[in-house]
Amino acid sequence: MSASIADPRLDGRAVNRIAYEAETIASRVSELGAEISADYPDGDLLVLGLLKGSFIFLGDLVRHITRPIQVDFLVASSYGSDTTSSGDVHMVYDPETVLEGRHILLVEDIVDSGRTLSRLMDLLSVRRPRSLAICALLHKHIAEHLRYPVRYVGFDAPNEFLVGYGLDHAENFRHLPYIASLQ
Ligand code: IMP
Ligand code: MG
Repeated sequence: MSASIADPRLDGRAVNRIAYEAETIASRVSELGAEISADYPDGDLLVLGLLKGSFIFLGDLVRHITRPIQVDFLVASSYGSDTTSSGDVHMVYDPETVLEGRHILLVEDIVDSGRTLSRLMDLLSVRRPRSLAICALLHKHIAEHLRYPVRYVGFDAPNEFLVGYGLDHAENFRHLPYIASLQ
C-alpha cells in the first residue's frame, strides 16, 4: 500500500504499510464472534484475554458473542533476552477465577513462535477446564513450538513485525485502529 502513512498518532515513526484496515478487522472480528457463539451452545464460557496485546481485540470480540459469557484476563511474563522469549513463561492470574468445569477460550493477539501459548495452555489444562481453546487475531504460521491447535484465527499474518489494534513495539502503537507493518 502507500509508502508512508500520514497519521498524527505515529509521531513520524517508521510505520509504512497498513497490513489490515480498521474496517477489515471489524468485519473479521464480527465473523469470529458469530462462529464462537455457534460453537458453544451450552455451559459456562470464560473468555480469557492475554494482556496486554489482546485488549482491543478482546473488547471488540466479546461484543459479537451472542451468548452468556464471563470475561477475565491473564498476564504472562517471560524471562529471557530482550528480543527472544526464553520459553520460561509464567502466568499471573486472579486466583479466585475458577477454571474447573468451564469452557475456556484463551484470546491472544498474535501467534509468533508459539512458546507463550504452549506454556500457558500447559498451565491452564492442569486446572481441569471442561474445554480449552485458543483464539488468535493473527497467526504467522511459523510457530515451531506450538503444541496446541489454534481453533480461531482472524488472519494468516505475514512474517513481519506488526503493530496496532493492541499490538505494540516497545509499548508504542497499541492505540492504532488499524494494523501496520514496521517493515
Ligand atoms: P510467541 O511466544 O513467540 O508466540 O510470542 C507471542 C507474543 O510476542 C505475542 O503475544 C506478542 O505480544 C509478541 N509478538 C510476536 N510477534 C509480534 C509482532 O509482530 N508484533 C507485536 N508483537 C508481537
Ligand atoms: Mg508485546
